[in-house]
Amino acid sequence: MKITVVGTGYVGLVTGACLAEMGNQVVCLDSNPGHIAALQNGLLPIHEPGLLDLVLRNTRGGRLTFTDDVNRAVAHGSVQFIAVGTPADEDGSADLQHVLAAAQAIAERMQEPRLIVNKSTVPVGTADRVREVIARVLLARGLPELAFSVTSNPEFLKEGSAVQDFMRPDRVIVGADNEQAAQALRMLYAPFMRNRDRFILMDIRSAEFTKYASNAMLATRISFMNELALLAEKLGADIEQVRTGMGTDPRIGTHFLYAGTGYGGSCFPKDVKALVHAAQEAGQALHILHAVQAVNERQKQVLIDKIVARFGPDLCDRRFALWGLAFKPGTDDMREAPSLVIIEHLLARGAEVAAYDPVALAQARRVLGERPGLHLVSQATSALEGADALIIVTEWKEFHSPDFAHLAIALRQPIIFDGRNLFEPAAIKALGIEYHAIGRAPP
Ligand code: UDX
Repeated sequence: MKITVVGTGYVGLVTGACLAEMGNQVVCLDSNPGHIAALQNGLLPIHEPGLLDLVLRNTRGGRLTFTDDVNRAVAHGSVQFIAVGTPADEDGSADLQHVLAAAQAIAERMQEPRLIVNKSTVPVGTADRVREVIARVLLARGLPELAFSVTSNPEFLKEGSAVQDFMRPDRVIVGADNEQAAQALRMLYAPFMRNRDRFILMDIRSAEFTKYASNAMLATRISFMNELALLAEKLGADIEQVRTGMGTDPRIGTHFLYAGTGYGGSCFPKDVKALVHAAQEAGQALHILHAVQAVNERQKQVLIDKIVARFGPDLCDRRFALWGLAFKPGTDDMREAPSLVIIEHLLARGAEVAAYDPVALAQARRVLGERPGLHLVSQATSALEGADALIIVTEWKEFHSPDFAHLAIALRQPIIFDGRNLFEPAAIKALGIEYHAIGRAPP
């Protein structure tokens, strides 16, 4: 099939590369010429495992091209994916300007029937707005009979495993209002679902809602576990054992029950906010999601509370090693990363911070800039030198089995504040290391 993907961010780039991998002819459009030039030279704007290989293989194979030429992009694909950003507006609602501009650009140029597939995360009812924009422009162009369909196909990929998630999806949700559009998308996705049909067809509004509902549910599980972890500490229980016990109930399941430093990233914070806003507009309160947000804000500071409880409120003359800057392992994405909140608090209290991340140092430098007291270092071990304690913020694999003997020597005092519960408290205590984790009973 001939496919155009509008937007070369996370979703657009992964969608384009994976569709090309299956033999489709894909043109990816972005309005930023610098971005396109970089992609044409095989430089990706994001760190995502497996994506570079996929992009290089398919550009060399002639199935994947990048352009900032809107005319060419609209002329190419019978299917036009919209995968542009929907950042949070000031009031928390999703900003649709890029989605509607993409619809307008397609409508202004299309000469043949087009299937528009909305992959951006958008509020319920957006497909109707996209349809209105296109119909209005076609009418103004004197082409009211030119056929087009608008469908919803939300993306569920996770950063760090985005390629895998796309190539082997748990589900492909499609919202369509006609059989022809549904059939075209069923065919497009069939190669990704051989031997396991995961195609779920529904009405367009339900498809749009499913994305928000899924992310809100996952965020709720995390905040719920984070609150239970705080209570576990007070009651002398161990949240890790509780999690294991809970997760074996198939109705609960084992995923997304990990207490930590709060959820971050480009999706959960923004999408929960947007859903709360949409509910308010619809005159329906979402009490649970208000609490989910409040708990998450609180949770980002939980390690600071522990550090202050241990060292006192004044952290002048203290130095901390911090491992894990991106919002989670496997990505260099710093959006809404708990590390940002933790670093702000430490610097504000006068501490020095030596921070390390396996892939996010450049992004961190860009986001944090030059800050007195903040040192971004390129080795996990060099962050430790002379620090009063180690703070672990994300669960990169390389943090799971550090050289504890070296760690105990390099730190001024052998103390770990672990925001991801990577170690067994008793084992760490046996090594002579003081250990503060989330919701864990003291050994
Ligand atoms: C999420 C959704 O999982 C994905 O389906 C959607 O398309 C986009 O948003 P992503 O933001 O890439 O994906 O990351 P995810 O792995 O879901 O983690 C989100 C945040 O929750 C991270 O900050 C992570 O550390 C945190 N988290 C996750 C927990 O604190 N505990 C858990 O048990 C799971």
